[in-house]
This record gives sequence, C-alpha cells and structure tokens, in this order.
Amino acid sequence: MKISSWMAVHSLSFCLLLAWEGTCVGQTAKAIDAQIIVHADRPGAVIQREIYGQFAEQLGHGIDQGIWVGEASAIPNIKGYRKDVVDALKAIHVPVIRWPGGCFADEYHWRDGVGPRQQRPVRRNLSWGGEEINAFGTHEFMDFAELIGAETYIGVNVGGGTPREMSDWLEYLTADGQSSIARERRANGRDKPWKVSYLGIGNEAWGCGGHMRPAYYADLYRQFATFVHPSGSEPSPIVRVASGASGDDFAWTEGVMSAAAELIDAYGVHYYTLPMNDWNKKGSATDFGEAEWIATLHGALRMDELLTMHSAIMDKYDPKKRVALVVDEWGTWYDPQPGVAAPALYQQNSLRDALTAAMTLNIFHAHADRVRMANIAQMVNVLQAMILTDQKRMVLTPTYHVFDMYQVFQGATSLPVEVRSPDYIFGNVHVPGVQASAGRDAAGIVHVGLVNPSPDKTIRLHLRLSGSQAKSIKGRILTAPAITSINTFEHPDVVKPAPLAGASSKDGEWMLRLPPRSVVVLDMR
Ligand code: AHR
Repeated sequence: MKISSWMAVHSLSFCLLLAWEGTCVGQTAKAIDAQIIVHADRPGAVIQREIYGQFAEQLGHGIDQGIWVGEASAIPNIKGYRKDVVDALKAIHVPVIRWPGGCFADEYHWRDGVGPRQQRPVRRNLSWGGEEINAFGTHEFMDFAELIGAETYIGVNVGGGTPREMSDWLEYLTADGQSSIARERRANGRDKPWKVSYLGIGNEAWGCGGHMRPAYYADLYRQFATFVHPSGSEPSPIVRVASGASGDDFAWTEGVMSAAAELIDAYGVHYYTLPMNDWNKKGSATDFGEAEWIATLHGALRMDELLTMHSAIMDKYDPKKRVALVVDEWGTWYDPQPGVAAPALYQQNSLRDALTAAMTLNIFHAHADRVRMANIAQMVNVLQAMILTDQKRMVLTPTYHVFDMYQVFQGATSLPVEVRSPDYIFGNVHVPGVQASAGRDAAGIVHVGLVNPSPDKTIRLHLRLSGSQAKSIKGRILTAPAITSINTFEHPDVVKPAPLAGASSKDGEWMLRLPPRSVVVLDMR
C-alpha cells in the first residue's frame, strides 16, 4: 500500500478494525490506537544510499565558515576543513554531495577556483550577494568529499557557460593521461584523477539557470550531454542529471522528457516546503503555532503526490524506469530571522523540521523504484541544515538526528507498509495519524520509521510483520518538550535521540507507544 492511500483510511473503519480489542478511542482522548502491518514478504526496490545525499552551495556561510575555515584558522581543522563538522558528517555517512549550486552553478567558472589560492579572482556572487573569494574550489570540494567518504555530484554551468568549459572541467577532474589539462591538475597538487559520479547539466533552467522554456532547455541539455566524456583510467559512467521541474510544474517534465529522455540518466525535481506555501510570506522558523505546524507537515507530505505525478509522466517516455528521478533540492524554507544580520538563507531548525525530514524520507523509501538520489538543502548553515556553526561553536540540528537515526535504511530493501490510524486534524487540515516506511537490511533486520505528528496525543501502536516474525525489537526516539523546540549553541541537546522503551509482544503482535510529536526508528530481528 502506497503512503498516499493512507489518507483514505477513516477513523470509523479503524474503530471497527480494532473493535475486537476493545481499544478504539476517539480523537479527543490523549491516546489513540493505530495499527501497522509491514509486509516483510513483499520486498520492493532497494533504497539507494544516495537518497540520503546533501547539497552544499557557495552561499552565505554554507561553505565559507560552515565547512571551510582554511589551514591558518584558530578553529580546529583538517587541512582547512572544520574538524567538528567533518566528524559529524562522517558519523552519518553522507553518501553524496552536490556542489557548487544551485543557482550559483550557472554563474560559476571552474577556473576561478583552481591554482594558488592567493591568486584566485574575487567575483561578485550574483545569486546570493557578497563576494566569492574562490578559496573553496575544485580541489577543496573533491578532497572534502573524499575526506568524508561521499560521492560527488558536480553542477555545471549551462546558463552562462559552454559545452567546452564543461568538458575541460571534466577532463581536469578525471583525466589520467598526459593532456595539458591533466598536467595542470597535477601541477596544482593532485596526481590521481578524481571520480565524478553525477553531473548536473544546468540548475533550475526554468528560473535562475536562464529562464528557459522546456523545449529550449531540452535542446541545450542534448548538446551538453553529448560532450560528457569522463576520461580516467577506469572510466566509470557519469550519471547525467537534467534540470527538472519545480514542485508541480508537470509541463516542464513533459517537455523535457518528451524531447530528451534517451540522453537523460537522471531527472532532478526540486520541492521546498513552506508553511503556508507562499513565497512572499514563508513564515518563521521558530515562532509558530499549531496551524503552521500542521500546514508544514501537510506541505511535506505533498512530496508523495509530486513524485507520483512526475513518475507517471516519466513512465510514458521511460517505461522501464532507466531514468532515475532525483530530488536534488528539498527541505523547509522559512523567512530570515527578523532583526538578525544572518548570512543568506540561514535559518534555525526545530522539532518541526525533524518531522518533515522523517516524513520526506519515508516517502522516498516508498518511491525507491524511481527515486534514486535526493539532496537535502542544505548541509551547513543554509535552509534545512544538518549543522549550524558560529565561529568556534557547532550544533547538530534536529534534522541531523533524523538523518542519523535513518542511516539504517541506506541500501535496505523497501517493504510495503499498511497503516490504519485516525487522521491528526487541526482546523481543516488533515494528516495521517501515523506516517511510516520500512526496509530490510542486508543482515535481515527489518527497520521501521514512524512519525506521530500530533502535538499532544500518544499513539498506541499495534505492529505486525506479515510473512515473518520478530523475536526482539529495539528503537530510538526523537522528541522534545514543544513543537518549537530547538537546539542552540547554549543548549545543544534539547532535541536529541534516546532509546525507546516499553515495547511488548503477544501472539506475534508488538505493542508500543509513540509519544506526541515524535520520530521513531525500530529495529526488528
Ligand atoms: O537552495 C537554495 C536555492 O534554491 C538554490 O540555489 C536554487 O537552485 C533554489 O532555488
């Protein structure tokens, strides 16, 4: 059963279903019963690790100060990369990083970022303001990815660049012969070629990438894609990613897929969650009530419908699902904090962000047959960040903790999940009372990710595996005293995972409690 069909389950049928237990309770009680069946006997597609990818743009303090401080900095660093940030990212096994943009990719000229740092040009950052000193360029990015063990996803400049500029960059990155460009890389300190796994051909071509129309972009895509020639000694195919639609722009998907599907390896959709879906009034990251809480969760759940619709269009031109759907920008986007001179797109991250992240990851798991990479926006200090930094200090956000808890799904086989629960309702907005996904890892352990979105009601969960039985269950929970709870530099552990206690089993059914406003990940053996 797909996540979207949970919405169709009404509280009345749920009450009938659980009547045999005499446990049916209404929406007004402080605890609600829900039932979940994990179909362990119906394995689906592999949940690609790359779904846990991240995006790091040359923007605000995302890279400068967030990742890169330079070797001479008083902040502890490994060859210029912040040690605290490197350690935290390693701990969650980031599978892939997208760089240098975003919008910035279509104004970036790679030669600005190679060679001796003091001699690199300073350019205006036209997309995000301020100046780009280019201290963090090709070598710094590729070495950073190597340092944290991530694959690389490079966005090339289509809006303001040429196929020649792109193919020269690729040669610089991947050539191991004696070409002048390969020798230039060696002279700049890197002997061995690097591996580029993904290549984004333009970004948001419908907007900051050139305000193109789909047919024009599709032709440009075809031209650029033709000149992607990786040239290492063991060339591995580079996945060419087309710049896809924003949100529900299905006409863009139709236009690009119909004109270029045979040359596209992956198609990138962007979707941001705004509390009220209004780009002029996004809302506060920290100062919100239950109306914004449920609206944001509801907005995050829209990802399911968007993936379903874009996949259906892709199916027309790619019925065998050769082309991956990648969500190479996703996350929450709020207004800047009033009165705070923060760098561009800096925002706090609350328990609300943790729930939106878990719900989105659950949706990706359910679409694992088509969705093979995603990159949350962004890694450090920008939008729905994993990590916030301030000079020497660093704090892990609630979103980071969800990525940590959900690591067990990387590479697992997705399992269908059926949830029966009354909706959580506020005003006229409904969201499922429990939202979930499941997967089985290589060791045979079944992992279940669960979200209880209610701010004040506990879920009494009745959980069964069909086609198999678990002898033991272990879990981790992420919750906090309030829907607005945040981690700050002064109080970094307000929202932090803890072990989940109190599960019991009877006749093959597990019973456990999901506290209000919580994310839970279970390991069932
Ligand atoms: O993530 C911030 C920006 O959002 C990206 O640069 C752009 O692609 C999108 O509009």
